[in-house]
Amino acid sequence: VIGDWSSDVCSSDLRGVASTGTMAPEEVPKYPDPVKICCLGAGYVGGPTMSVISKMCPDIKVTVCDLNERRIAAWNSANLPIYEPGLQEVVEEARGRNLFFSTDIDAAIRECTIIFVSVNTPTKKTGIGAGEAADLTYWELAARRIAHVCNTTGDGSPKIIVEKSTVPVKTADAMASVMAASCTTTNFQVLSNPEFLAEGTAMDDLFKPDRVLVGGAETPAGHAAVQCLANVYRRWVPTAQVLTTNLWSAELSKLTANAFLAQRISSINSISALCEVTGANVNEVAHAIGVDTRIGSKFLKASVGFGGSCFQKDILNLVYLCRSFGLPEVAEYWNQVIVMNDWQKTRFAQNMVSSMFNTVSGKKIAILGFAFKKDTGDTRETPAIDVCNKLLEENAVLSVFDPKVTREQMYLDLGKEKMDKMQIEDDPYLCCAGAHAIAVMTEWDVFKKLDLQKIYDAMQKPAFIFDGRDVIDHETARKIGFEVWAVGKSSFNAGAK
Ligand code: NAD
Ligand code: UGA
Repeated sequence: VIGDWSSDVCSSDLRGVASTGTMAPEEVPKYPDPVKICCLGAGYVGGPTMSVISKMCPDIKVTVCDLNERRIAAWNSANLPIYEPGLQEVVEEARGRNLFFSTDIDAAIRECTIIFVSVNTPTKKTGIGAGEAADLTYWELAARRIAHVCNTTGDGSPKIIVEKSTVPVKTADAMASVMAASCTTTNFQVLSNPEFLAEGTAMDDLFKPDRVLVGGAETPAGHAAVQCLANVYRRWVPTAQVLTTNLWSAELSKLTANAFLAQRISSINSISALCEVTGANVNEVAHAIGVDTRIGSKFLKASVGFGGSCFQKDILNLVYLCRSFGLPEVAEYWNQVIVMNDWQKTRFAQNMVSSMFNTVSGKKIAILGFAFKKDTGDTRETPAIDVCNKLLEENAVLSVFDPKVTREQMYLDLGKEKMDKMQIEDDPYLCCAGAHAIAVMTEWDVFKKLDLQKIYDAMQKPAFIFDGRDVIDHETARKIGFEVWAVGKSSFNAGAK
């Protein structure tokens, strides 16, 4: 029931998430100190996480591997494959010293004691659970490769396999079953060590995490493996913040954390709609409720909707798990977070069309920002894709500016046919020139400093601003002559409503 492959290998034995190979079940292996670490998957998580480990532990050799040769070549170049503030400096300091990027996955598996698995776990597109369940294909391939290498060319030294990817609860059991079935020579433990970094602030999140979570089997050998990994983090994370739990708690905590964070955004976005029709201001409401320490102020920023590769995927995964375990009410509860987010994106685009006299056909609309949040070039599940698609369906002519998203990425996201109807600009003023409306899709700091008068002068009139991120100075814009609509605020002359 968990993924598309785990149910047939799942043994559900909490004590047994380890294979002992040639060792007796209770024997606790002695791990080398310092350990060598590798990571399968050199993406948004694998790259930054391993870079920080290598910086904070200069005596530990860290190798980051990927099947994708281009990605590894980029990690070894001056143009890293992902943009993350502060990442470049850390990579440049450690690369070649104790941080290595390689496509030689087998050599890294052989050499290292701790093997992180940080591969992609997207939502399944076809088959049982399509549209909800996690696709664990990449994950299982990684597991099988570790097992094969250890079994055929390994030296029998003990291994700790660490789930870094976000996976359904009980995946560690499936991993252990795959390993046990195809590897008889190696003593291994499977740990869950979910990652909580957010893109755009990944380096800070990794250097100063609120917590690090390590889950393992509740056996002496499991505890030893947990301590081995926890000791790596304890080099720079205060011990009180390195939490240790059983495996299933660690796996479920990750899905739950993302569901709670996304739920707060959907909650405030639902209230933003009510603010718009009542004259309340969503920022004032968010502040007023957020100062209550029981509620807290974070993740209460109303927006065009949340994006990113994980919130939607992980909630859908949670929904699928709940259904699979016979909890339809719980599934429906969490599914509503996604329903509300979809509605927020749709109503943003619909509001644009209705505000512009019910037609945007042939009108130029400037899209400011394409990334799913500022300080990243990542566009996975960005609300900008949904809004652009809806406006293109209405035959609008789009012009897009984003400081970090490449033309190639937009091409991949939207496809050739749509790209032919779009202009990609390197300059926000050019992007807005001649437009009927501006839609702000990402909260890039650069948008706060735009010369609104200059933009207004070069636009068609009436000139509209639809602010999906609350970054424009609405009062100044209105004084200049813009018609301003902002999420969660009384729009146009709606203050009179
Ligand atoms: P990503 O797509 O950026 O990177 C995954 C990488 O794994 C790819 O480069 C892919 O080529 C590689 N890969 C796939 N199969 C492989 C294999 N068998 N061996 C070696 N490499 C392989 O994904 P990501 O954003 O880094 O996310 C990875 C996991 O971490 C996901 O489960 C995600 O849910 C979770 N996560 C992501 C974030 C985030 O901010 N992006 C934060 C926390 C957790
Ligand atoms: C999120 C979580 O914050 C991380 O803890 C988690 O590790 C990660 O998902 C993951 O598992 O991938 P991320 O998606 O990178 O991180 O970025 P967030 O800062 O959470 O933003 C997600 C989306 O919500 C963005 O589109 C952002 O603009 C939006 N958002 C965020 C709001 O609309 N309002 C807010 O108050 C906060």
